[in-house]
Amino acid sequence: PESLGGCELRHIAVCLAVEEIARVCVSSSLILQVQALGATPILLAGTEAQKQKYCPPLASGEKLCAFGLTEPGAGSDAAAMATIAELSGDTYILNGLKHFISNATVADVFCIFAMTDRGKGIKGISAFIVEKDFPGFHIGRVEKKMGIRGSPTAEIVLKDCRVPRENLLGREGEGFKIAMKALDYSRPVIASQAVGVAQAGLDFAVKYSKERVQFGGPIAQLQGIQFMLADMAAQVEAARALTYHAAALADEDSPQLTYFAAAAKLIASDVAMRVTTDAIQVAGGYGYMIDFPAERFMRDAKITQIYEGTNQIQRLVIARQLLK
Ligand code: CAA
Repeated sequence: PESLGGCELRHIAVCLAVEEIARVCVSSSLILQVQALGATPILLAGTEAQKQKYCPPLASGEKLCAFGLTEPGAGSDAAAMATIAELSGDTYILNGLKHFISNATVADVFCIFAMTDRGKGIKGISAFIVEKDFPGFHIGRVEKKMGIRGSPTAEIVLKDCRVPRENLLGREGEGFKIAMKALDYSRPVIASQAVGVAQAGLDFAVKYSKERVQFGGPIAQLQGIQFMLADMAAQVEAARALTYHAAALADEDSPQLTYFAAAAKLIASDVAMRVTTDAIQVAGGYGYMIDFPAERFMRDAKITQIYEGTNQIQRLVIARQLLK
């Protein structure tokens, strides 16, 4: 919102921006993507004071944020988290380990999920705004990844981390729903990232096939290559249309968002993987070499099938929506 220093853009605008950036560099598109994901819990559940304090520097980019949900034993099963938060006077004391956290080493503000009441299971999870300078907040192991190497991913170690009570987001026990809702808004953005990198693979394959001469002419004249390009293009267009539809539903706060966000993320990321792999195939041995960007597109595309819920989890979400 403009009142919080933003430009009053809609979700679809974030998706378009992320798609265009991912067309060149998926890591760079993740800067905007994680900024949106990390800020969404504050927008969804924050008090006016929390929004006024934390959102303007996130909107301007002066500060970066991150989303701390995943743990070593709580990946797909996000509710299995072991991080605990105990209230002591006016301070929550957080202990636990978050891992695979995008932006961890560069973020200033974190939305961290922890158990305030283990006995209540999912309904015992709460959300907190945690600043990197809070006592007991540490960065642990920094990961080495197959792709998106320009984006830092690391552990967060919470050792008696002191979080003021006023930094609880929503009420105690609302954390899991806040996380799930934030992911509903964010999954179309991951789908956009996938569309962007798929388009990059297609652009590369078209250009290469017009330049590469074999059997006396550009390989683009060969029907075998033309059919590959046509299949790639059609898949990218289908993924894009579904992604924009999901983004439009996010703008409307539609009850169908959960279903379409999962479907868009599932379809677009699978398309990204297929199209970027075919882009390498069109270029043959050259596509496999790191002198060309195609192999990077494929390595970067792979993560879109994994983060913000694996595509197996997206299928589970879709099926549950269908069958409810
Ligand atoms: N909106 C609102 N509430 C929701 C919801 C949604 N989309 N989804 C679930 N809930 C609510 C349910 O209604 C239920 O509440 P009630 O009991 O009051 O009805 C409660 O949450 C529990 O829901 P489930 O029974 O469905 O929970 P579950 O444990 O069986 O399954 C899951 C949930 C879908 C598998 C979930 O754990 C999940 O999405 N897992 C994947 C985790 C994930 O996406 N991690 C991403 C990490 S962030 C990241 O990757 C960022 C990055 O690096 C870029």
